[in-house]
Parts: sequence; C-alpha cells; structure tokens
Amino acid sequence: MQYEGSGVKNRGLTEKKMKSMESFPKKVRIVEVGPRDGLQNEKNIVETSDKENFIRLLAKAGNQTIEPASFVRADLMPQMADGYELYNSIKDLNDSVDLSCLVPNMKGLEKAIECGVKEIAVFTAASESFNQKNINATISKSFERIAPVAKKAIDGGIKVRGYVSTAFGCPYEGHIDPKVVLDVSDRLRDLGCYEISIGDTIGCGTPLSVKRVLDKFKKFDDLAMHFHDTRGMAISNILTSLEYGIDVYDSSSGGLGGCPYAKGATGNVGTEDLLYLFNSLGIETGVDLEKQVVASKFILGVLGKKTTSKFLQAYINGEGELYLP
Ligand code: HMG
Ligand code: MG
Repeated sequence: MQYEGSGVKNRGLTEKKMKSMESFPKKVRIVEVGPRDGLQNEKNIVETSDKENFIRLLAKAGNQTIEPASFVRADLMPQMADGYELYNSIKDLNDSVDLSCLVPNMKGLEKAIECGVKEIAVFTAASESFNQKNINATISKSFERIAPVAKKAIDGGIKVRGYVSTAFGCPYEGHIDPKVVLDVSDRLRDLGCYEISIGDTIGCGTPLSVKRVLDKFKKFDDLAMHFHDTRGMAISNILTSLEYGIDVYDSSSGGLGGCPYAKGATGNVGTEDLLYLFNSLGIETGVDLEKQVVASKFILGVLGKKTTSKFLQAYINGEGELYLP
C-alpha cells in the first residue's frame, strides 16, 4: 500500500530539505545490539538456546553485524553469564556475520579469545560518574584498562570497536561537554578502534544536541550512532546524523534494552523503526523488514513483553500491513 507521508520524492519537501537529503548515504550498516544491549537488562534469564535462535533469525533477516554477548562480571550482569556457551553455539555464523562482543578488560578479552571471537567492542564514557557506576573506573583509568586490551586484540587479528557512552547527557551529571565526547572518541581512535559508536545512553539527545556534538568532529567515516529512544527522539536524531553522512547505526530488535546503570533509560531505537525510515528514504540496509519482525516477535514472545517499536506496534495492530512507500 502506498503511504502518502513517506518517500523522498513526496511533495511538500522544501528545496533546502531536499538538498540536505542529497548528502544522506545511499547505504547504511545496522549494528543489531538486541541480543546484548536488548537483553542485558532483562531480569528473567533467557535460555541460551532461545538467544541462539534469536541471533539466527536476525542473521536470516540480513543483519551483517550483531552483538551477541558481553564478557563482563556475571554477578553484575547475570543475563550475560552464558556468553561463552552462546558464542560457541553460533560460531558457524562467523563467516557471514560480524559477531562483536562487548569486553570491559583483559579478563573479558581472554574469555573472548577462548571463544575465538573476530571482533570486540571496548567501552567507556564521556561522564566520570557514569563510568564509575558502570565499570568502576574513571575515564582515565578506563583507558589504562582498555589500551592493552585493544593492543592485544589488534595484534591477534581481532577488530576493535569503541563505545562512548553518555555523549548527550549523563544520568548523574546532566550536561556533557561535547569537547569531552570528541576527546574520548579520539583516544579510542588512537587505540586503533576501527569504529566509534557515539552513545545516547539515556535517550536524552535531540537534533540540536546531536548537532552540537557532531559539529566538534571533522571526520565522520568511522562514526556510528547509538541512540536509546527513551524520549522518542531517536529517529529525529538519526535524521540529523544522516546529514553528516554517518552510515552506521546501532539498534535493537523490537526496541528492547536499557542499562542498569542508567536509571529510567529505555531500549535502543527499534530496528524496525530504523528500517522503516531507511526504506522510506531509499537507503539500502540489506536487512529485510518482515524477517526482522519475525526475529523481534520471537524474542518478545520468549520474554512475554510488548514491543516499544512504533513500527512494530503498528505492524502488529495492522495485521501485517507494511505501508511502505
Ligand atoms: P571490577 O570489580 O572493578 O573488576 O569490575 P576487578 O578487576 O576489580 O575484579 C573484581 C572481580 O571481578 C574479580 O573476581 C575479577 O576476577 C572479576 P574475584 O577475584 O574477586 O573473584 N572480574 C571479571 N569476571 C568476569 N568477567 C570479567 C571480569 N573482570 C573482573 N570481565 C568491570 C570492573 C568492568 C568488570 C565490572 O564493573 C563490570 O563487569 N561491569 C558491567 C558493565 C556492563 O556490562 N555495563 C553494561 C554494558 S555498557 C552499555 O550498556 C552502554 C552501551 O550500550 C553504549 C550506550 O548505550 O551508551 C555500550
Ligand atoms: Mg546502549
């Protein structure tokens, strides 16, 4: 069915807006963080076999990068305790999908290496207080920890991605200086991270604050954006990021997720919402929306939860009508 409100060629777009859309990338990569960011905050432990099924469905939908697990302290993040077992159960996907595991320190890296991971993600924040709560380290201490981790990984042929949390605001400190976001990102770049994911951990960013942060950067081709959708701003923030030519976006199946150290923060932007946006703009993702829905419905069923993804809600209520342009 044709939906009048969507599609680049629609009437009502000013020439200026059309011009800004011309700078949008033609193709983007989605980093599906549902199995890690989506599940880490869930109290009821999901069976490893259900996580495996979920990841296989995500791969079937065409996801090229999936974050299956983290190797953190199991007493602090019980849902992630089966990372070793889970990774081994999906190892065969390694040839076709980048399976990036979150690693906080050398102990986590050693576990990841034992599994045979090909990619890790290290993480720190632009806020001292959040870092302290999340990883028990100041920003500078976190770099002391992750510098040898990144070196060892890269020397061993493992790709390293870097996260900067609380880039647009901190649950403890409030405002975050955009210069700190740039500085932390540059330090991650210096460690050899091939990609830096700028995280709106508590979903407080707006197009204006996204501009304020991105205006500090000169280089965008190694940036990814990681928006939690707590205040419903994620899609607007992604549109703003597209204007900078950024072509990697993290999202979570069905909008699942949250971080126990970011009170009140809800899940990442739903992958379905992202796909609906990109499809409407003619931006290629390689991910099939209907197959993505199958993966999301599966894991939501396991959790007994309703989705927060607006697209998925409409799709379920509309009995499978896609309303694509
Ligand atoms: P620590 O307590 O400072 O570590 O934890 P430690 O080195 O002092 O060790 C204390 C104990 O923990 C020792 O055990 C270690 O062996 C053990 P003991 O000898 O006393 O029996 N230990 C570990 N066990 C398993 N795996 C490990 C590990 N390291 C130490 N890797 C640490 C520091 C970072 C490990 C801890 O604070 C932690 O695991 N925190 C969890 C952080 C987390 O998972 N947060 C959520 C993910 S980040 C996120 O969601 C944000 C993101 O999505 C982007 C965004 O939205 O902004 C990425
Ligand atoms: Mg996150």
